[in-house]
Amino acid sequence: MRLLVLFTLVLVFACNKQTKVEPITEADKELLSEAQENFEALPDSIIDKEAKKDLIALGKELYFEKKLSANGTISCNSCHMLDKYGVDNEKTSPGHDGTRGERNSPTSYNAALHIAQFWDGRAKDVEEQALGPLLNPIEHGVKDEKQALEILEKAGYKEKFTKAFGNDTSFTYKNIGVAIGAYERTLLTPSRFDDYLKGDINALTKGERAGLKKFVEVGCTTCHNGVGVGGGMYQKLGVAEEYETEDKGRFNVTKNEEDMHVFKVPGLRNVVHTGSLYA
Ligand code: HEC
Ligand code: HEC
Repeated sequence: MRLLVLFTLVLVFACNKQTKVEPITEADKELLSEAQENFEALPDSIIDKEAKKDLIALGKELYFEKKLSANGTISCNSCHMLDKYGVDNEKTSPGHDGTRGERNSPTSYNAALHIAQFWDGRAKDVEEQALGPLLNPIEHGVKDEKQALEILEKAGYKEKFTKAFGNDTSFTYKNIGVAIGAYERTLLTPSRFDDYLKGDINALTKGERAGLKKFVEVGCTTCHNGVGVGGGMYQKLGVAEEYETEDKGRFNVTKNEEDMHVFKVPGLRNVVHTGSLYA
């Protein structure tokens, strides 16, 4: 008897699941084409993973290398934890001696697709960006380029550079960034949203599609659009409402008065997981 009840229950749930897929309406199709106008599915790859295999492997090792810091405790992964969606869930991040910087760590996932790197766009790509934190006194805190190379030579990296770049003059500070950047180009997170954008309407639930509709309707897509659902433009903070911040944003880079309090629009992929838990 008990078994029969169980069997019936399983059957009921199984049927329930099947009947959940609802017929696709004209409105669903309209929303999809609107979404396709505003967003773009993640590409399968933005680096030749086979041809750059050794370079990517070197970049990965460097991304996790704690020796590359003043006291051997900090790696890129300390603030951009790859098992935490590329962030540390902190309001601001503690560096090698616990001192915190001024800004929140954005995720390293999908960042390679952005127009530029950092909140103020001061690095043009992930290769250039990666060299910033190493010598930043409150992040990795390495003294200078020479010290970075000394640390890596002692840790046996020289041959790995030769192998990755295919020549023995490649052991340079700049190439640390080239390698880490190559690895970051593999940090893409394709999701059901991309399946949806490629035409599979049921890849998103009805509720998710209602949210998407609202997102487009109220104009979030003016700024959060494209392949990164953001990351494609700069905007001034305080457009809708007065917003106080000491951070001059992009003004520090361009010295243009118009860029005062202007920041890169963040990408919203995985945003559910990348917020600060301690704000
Ligand atoms: C102590 C914490 C910390 C460490 C260590 C650190 N970062 Fe960051 N990272 C940040 C913060 C904070 C920002 C934003 C700073 C800004 O915009 O001025 C940032 C920005 C970035 C960005 C820009 C993303 C975007 O959307 O603009 C990338 C990519 C990145 N870091 C990768 C790395 C790599 C690679 C390393 C190792 C070489 C590294 N970070 C080490 C805290 C850290
Ligand atoms: C005028 C451009 C603009 C519009 C429109 C806009 N945003 Fe943003 N959004 C930004 C900028 C710039 C930031 C970064 C602000 C900051 O860090 O203080 C941001 C930050 C965010 C963040 C935080 C992301 C993170 O990782 O820190 C979320 C979530 C977000 N926006 C969602 C939305 C939603 C939802 C809408 C529509 C209701 C919307 N935005 C409309 C420009 C815009």
